[in-house]
Amino acid sequence: MPPAPRSPLRLGILGSGKGSNFRAIADAISMGALDAEVCIVISDVEGAGILALARERKLRAEFVAPGKFKTKLEPEAEARLVALLREAGVDLVVLAGWMRMIKAPLLEAFPRKIINIHPSLLPAFPGLEAWRQALAAGAHETGCTVHYVDSGMDTGEVIAQSRVPVFPSDTPEELHARIQIAEHKLYPAVIGEFAKREL
Ligand code: GRF
Repeated sequence: MPPAPRSPLRLGILGSGKGSNFRAIADAISMGALDAEVCIVISDVEGAGILALARERKLRAEFVAPGKFKTKLEPEAEARLVALLREAGVDLVVLAGWMRMIKAPLLEAFPRKIINIHPSLLPAFPGLEAWRQALAAGAHETGCTVHYVDSGMDTGEVIAQSRVPVFPSDTPEELHARIQIAEHKLYPAVIGEFAKREL
């Protein structure tokens, strides 16, 4: 018989921004819709909204100083991140608006246990402000993608996607807001699938 899934699934959340995806995940847990537990929230931005949201919920919230690089962590910072996630007993690392590339130490510490949400239908529009890219390309449809994280930028294997229409009158802000509504449903649902199986 296969081993039973660990219940609840222990999440480590990494984010650099306002944290609306984290909030959607935490709300799904509070409502009993998601059998998981947020064990730690980590940010590379000291004043990030995601840390304030975590503290409001009395969850462990940690700032990790990123060091001198803009697009990745310094090796010492990445080692600290791995240590914090391990110490918290995390099963699944959930990137929720994390703005830096993930390197070998973290990828090797959590193989196929790091996921990300990206605001486009990958492989279309990887990188920054994907909703602006979709508008500039004249796309009629875009959406969001949950994928495994690898060493590339938004290149890991796709797990699930949700589609969103693009309207001719859309501003970038309106389109991003519509994509985020889809993100807030998709991410807790995908994490729920992980919670049902042994990691
Ligand atoms: C989301 O649009 C997500 O797709 C992207 O970063 C944004 C994070 O938003 N990776 P939030 O901090 O969860 O509100």
